[in-house]
Amino acid sequence: MSKASISLQSGDITLDLSFADESHVIYGEKKEFYIDVNHDNPFLLSTFGSLDYRDPMVLITDENGYASRRFLVKKVEDEENDCKGLPLSFGHNRSVCITYIDDLNEIEIKQFIKTFDESAFSFSLKITNIGKKASFIKRAYSMEYGLEGKGYDIYSFPGHWGRERNIQKTNLETGEFINQSICGICSSFANPLIVVGKGSSFYGFNILYSGNHKESVSVSYVGNTKVMIGMNDFLLDWKLSPSESFFTPEVIMTKGNNIDEIQQRLSSFVRKHIMKKRDIRPIVYNTWEGSGYDIGEAKWKNLAKLASEVGCEVFLFDDGWFLNRNSDTTSLGDFVLDEAKIGGDFEHINEYLNNLDLKLGLWIEPEMISPVSLLAKSHPEFILRRKEVEPIQSRNQLLLDLANHKCVEYVKNMIVSLIEKSKCSYIKWDFNRLLTDIESESCRGGEYFHRFILGYYEIISSIRDMYPDLYIEGCASGGARFDLGTLRYVDCIWTSDNTSPRSRLLIQEGTSIGYPLCSISNHYSASPNVTTHEEYPCKTRAEVAFFGVYGVEVDLSKISLEETEYIAKTISFYKKHRQMIGDGTFHIIGDPMNRVSRCWLLQKDDESLLLTSNEDGHKTIPYRLPYFDAKAKYILEYWDGRTVDIKGSDLINGLALPNGKGLKTQMVYIRRIKE
Ligand code: DGJ
Repeated sequence: MSKASISLQSGDITLDLSFADESHVIYGEKKEFYIDVNHDNPFLLSTFGSLDYRDPMVLITDENGYASRRFLVKKVEDEENDCKGLPLSFGHNRSVCITYIDDLNEIEIKQFIKTFDESAFSFSLKITNIGKKASFIKRAYSMEYGLEGKGYDIYSFPGHWGRERNIQKTNLETGEFINQSICGICSSFANPLIVVGKGSSFYGFNILYSGNHKESVSVSYVGNTKVMIGMNDFLLDWKLSPSESFFTPEVIMTKGNNIDEIQQRLSSFVRKHIMKKRDIRPIVYNTWEGSGYDIGEAKWKNLAKLASEVGCEVFLFDDGWFLNRNSDTTSLGDFVLDEAKIGGDFEHINEYLNNLDLKLGLWIEPEMISPVSLLAKSHPEFILRRKEVEPIQSRNQLLLDLANHKCVEYVKNMIVSLIEKSKCSYIKWDFNRLLTDIESESCRGGEYFHRFILGYYEIISSIRDMYPDLYIEGCASGGARFDLGTLRYVDCIWTSDNTSPRSRLLIQEGTSIGYPLCSISNHYSASPNVTTHEEYPCKTRAEVAFFGVYGVEVDLSKISLEETEYIAKTISFYKKHRQMIGDGTFHIIGDPMNRVSRCWLLQKDDESLLLTSNEDGHKTIPYRLPYFDAKAKYILEYWDGRTVDIKGSDLINGLALPNGKGLKTQMVYIRRIKE
């Protein structure tokens, strides 16, 4: 490969690749970024074996544990990634493939870079053993990216159950910042989304992967910053036999002037290139928070009636509808309708619901098994466990071994037969514990985490392909599997089990930085809140939940007539505006690190939805709203029916913030008046 360069364009961002010699690729954005200081080149694929001693992106050893030397570039041409089994984005313009070869260890790496109409690139690798002996992949990130200088702010989205994706900011002058998961799924501890930026150069990164991930940002000895993103190398030891290939998950990168632009670009990208298009996202009534396992015949029939009266479109039996499942101690694996408890078969349920103009939704947790279940008796070999030790139970349940192909087939067939039998149109797909006790006859230990995720994708992608109209809501103990890999196959994700508005403001705001509102599932819930015990008026609960996919979770049989009427009002409002909420552009106005007051603005064409919140009247000066036209006229519509005409120039100066004790919110619908 001789000296050459190519320029890749996505929207308004350019990636210049310069092949200085065949040993490495130097790249950067036009003109501003051809750095060649000591050995601090921003390689596009760094490995161990050159004089670059920064942490490498790829590590592959031979049978004796010796690592590959440098990979030399052999060709660059347009080629599609033929990866099977992992979620991929769609709708790209070009897929450019750089082929590298390590002659010594006989490994070929194809590096795919996709370009899009939107300002985003994606990166992934295909690693192939072209020799005659086995090789071992010890690390294979999907991308690395060099940034000039140091002192970048890193926005990350850590959390826990009930406080998922609360935005954090870390400034990195030296050393390394790591954001990672090692528990088997993307986790609520560390979402794979990160934003790195300073001045007017911001970069957003995310990965289409639901398993262990790792995002490393490090400052080199020369003082430049490098970002590496991919599948976590924790315990990774993947045997690559002759002629076998290994694919890394796809990583998305975008660039913008500030975090707001990154948010716009990531969410528009996810909507157009990852999620399935939906005209209508149905309003679901979910039984969990209000009724738990107590959903016997009289109860659910009454709830369904009330849900229909307030305007819900789907009635979802959450946990507790299947054989003997009256607590979390039994029955996972036995997803057969408990006809005695529910008072009839699926035909009966559907008839009842259809008469109320409701569709049927069902909760499942298909990757799990209760030790007390029929499945555990009939297929003990499907349980993920070490042979010699009693496996650790979490929420009284164990995992199924998704590296075992027979188990994967079993689960797939079980879900297909449930969908066929129940004729449900909505599924909530839960996952309530993390991986432990890993041992499987199906693969080596160093391969397990990834093979488990491949099993998950095999199941969920088959269901998606077979039932394109089935609406799927992802879930994992709340929002512990909120990732782009899952979003490739589901329609929205339950954001958190914590439905308390104060917590939700932080959770939904953090989530919205990388995921569009149409993926964020929020439900109107009870007061006092079941998780935080805090009390909120109906208005606050509804206003915060509007910013996403709206649903209802409160026990409708236990609330006042006034509240029921209020919920009906919120639903008809949401129905009227759901297209705009799903497709609009969402802005967080002001500093997202501010924990006291917030301002959210959602806009589509001539319509906007504005939410402001304030704690104890803390902020007194309105947020400026630069997204309106100073010369236009607008009408504000409040909940209480009040309408106010306002000039664009006044609107830009902001609206008075809600004031009072505790958390106060104020939502207003704004329409531009046509001249
Ligand atoms: C955890 C989920 O996050 C809840 O919404 C609910 O579905 C329960 N699991 C049911 O067990």
